[in-house]
Amino acid sequence: MKIFIDTANVEEIREAASWGIIKGVTTNPSLIAKEGRNLKEVIGEITSLVDGPISAEVNEADIDTMISEAKELSKMNKNIVIKVPMTKDGIKVTKILHDLKIRTNVTLVFSVPQALLAFEAGASFVSPFMGRLDDMNASGAELIEKLVAVKQMYGYDTEIIAASIRNGKHIEEAALAGSDIATIPFAVLKKSFDHPLTTNGLKIFKDAAKK
Ligand code: G3P
Repeated sequence: MKIFIDTANVEEIREAASWGIIKGVTTNPSLIAKEGRNLKEVIGEITSLVDGPISAEVNEADIDTMISEAKELSKMNKNIVIKVPMTKDGIKVTKILHDLKIRTNVTLVFSVPQALLAFEAGASFVSPFMGRLDDMNASGAELIEKLVAVKQMYGYDTEIIAASIRNGKHIEEAALAGSDIATIPFAVLKKSFDHPLTTNGLKIFKDAAKK
């Protein structure tokens, strides 16, 4: 399962990129707003740090506005993927961009029928949100399992990005379900290095080496 980082913070991306395991970046309007910076400026910097798909979201608007925003963003760099909301217009935009050979990531996906529409529209990526489903006592893991099954059954090329990942359990569930990608916030990713038995084991080895 490929690991993407889910942040618009350039310092976090720089550090995570130095670990050598990051294959892409996802941003969204909330993450950009958190940085208090302009979308294009942030995306421009990210393209110099990671050579892989970088999702930049268009604002929900009428079709023509979304298309022209998408065209402008995709001109910035070959790695830009246009994040499109899972709405009727969003799906129309996904199909138009697919025909223009502009890659898309359909976001805010919470059900199999929604994902199926994105698959059929030719989305390059689809982003089911695990944490937000778990928040309402549904199962993010179950949704990923179902999407992987449908994708395999019909041979869709769309890559599944497990998103809204809040903890290591979500990473494990996404991996076991066969998700293509997990997009992980920096803090959750950093925690993945740790295990108390690793820390303890290191101390034992260090003490032994001293003797
Ligand atoms: O990738 C989507 C993610 O940023 C949303 O996460 O934790 O706000 O549900 P969350």
